[in-house]
Amino acid sequence: MGERVQKSSADEWDQVWIGAHVATMTNNGSAYGELKSAAVAIQDERIAWLGSTAEALDQAAAARRDIVRDAQGLWITPGLIDCHTHLVYGGNRVAEFEQRLCGASYEEIARAGGGIQSTVRATRAATFSQLHESALIRLRRLMAEGVTTVEIKSGYGLELAAERRLLEVARDLGERLPVSVRKTFLGLHALPPEFAADRQEFVNRVCGPWLETLAAAGLVDAVDAFCENIAFSLEETAQLLEAASGLGLAAHVHAGQLSDLGAAELASKWGALSADHLEYLSAAGARAMAAAGTVAVLLPTAYFTLRQTTPPPVGLLRDAAVPMAVATDCNPGTSPCSSLLTAMNMACTLFGLTPEEALRGTTCNAARALGLQDEVGKIAVGMRADLAFWRIERPAELCYGLGANPCAGVMHRGRMRGELN
Ligand code: NIG
Ligand code: FE
Repeated sequence: MGERVQKSSADEWDQVWIGAHVATMTNNGSAYGELKSAAVAIQDERIAWLGSTAEALDQAAAARRDIVRDAQGLWITPGLIDCHTHLVYGGNRVAEFEQRLCGASYEEIARAGGGIQSTVRATRAATFSQLHESALIRLRRLMAEGVTTVEIKSGYGLELAAERRLLEVARDLGERLPVSVRKTFLGLHALPPEFAADRQEFVNRVCGPWLETLAAAGLVDAVDAFCENIAFSLEETAQLLEAASGLGLAAHVHAGQLSDLGAAELASKWGALSADHLEYLSAAGARAMAAAGTVAVLLPTAYFTLRQTTPPPVGLLRDAAVPMAVATDCNPGTSPCSSLLTAMNMACTLFGLTPEEALRGTTCNAARALGLQDEVGKIAVGMRADLAFWRIERPAELCYGLGANPCAGVMHRGRMRGELN
């Protein structure tokens, strides 16, 4: 059962966790890729060895017993990955929540200048530290549930300086906290009022000088566009995807949230890493995604908040073998949610994913949605030692509880964030 990486021997390990049940999320033939009564050895920031507890003890006996840590029967999964968030923003949209419950629709509020525009006003008015402070609260909540990688989109600035500030806050959070941050420039989120009379000029700036400036500053891992009737057209989205591709940047697309414009096909055509939402998706769209390897990122807490009634066609995605990820979409309008476990629960209860699909959706498939599948999202030799420890009986329990947090500890890049609790 023991698997060695070249040159890794027990005397080079920094730590070895024994007595764990490990959901490796590899395709080793068992559900969740599970290994019972297993051991995981860490060297620097990587997984150096994976095998049975007995074998690990044998090997470590010859080296130093002080590196042995007892996981006491906890489950270990890859650190969770929230691959779609709008974590950094000013203000909140509680008034709009109330309006919607009194009968107004998301689209009506958006067309009347509320919605995203109201968060843009609050975000432009906020300082770096105000944005940082509020985002930090949400990020800590995600991290407390075992999240070790988070994608953060801009998109509430919609002018160069404010977009830059959002991306700088995202970068700073990743530098200061034990969590990996991927930064996405969501330049085409909504048309800001100052460009109401000249939308082409706005699109040209986003796809040209703004993208180039932000990318040159190292603030952009990927781009994103909200492709929808109330936002940007297929042609406008294509302009951003083409510009990103010219700069060698990855892409995501908000596709099929409210209607099917063919955004999933467009995302696939440009080799986007993911198409996200997908409540409205045709069989042709699913086939195009499968052929391109574009991941379907499902966002059940946004569906829940908007009280939508048409779930994404999960059967179509399964039949076409499109990898499915699950994320929070954490944002003030459609998903005021900073709990990835809640998103996993709703992926099961509202969309019909199996608990194993939901966990693949926040580990290996979420890694793929960020282009990080060779680094994180699975427990295997050579992968980064980002791990979450859970006080659960079986992995499905991660999807079962509502408001429960069975996380007992987290390791990021080979370092425990504190002790097991
Ligand atoms: O993913 N759909 C576009 N963007 C966000 C919502 C943004 C907002 O309403 O503030 C989403 O749902
Ligand atoms: Fe979103």
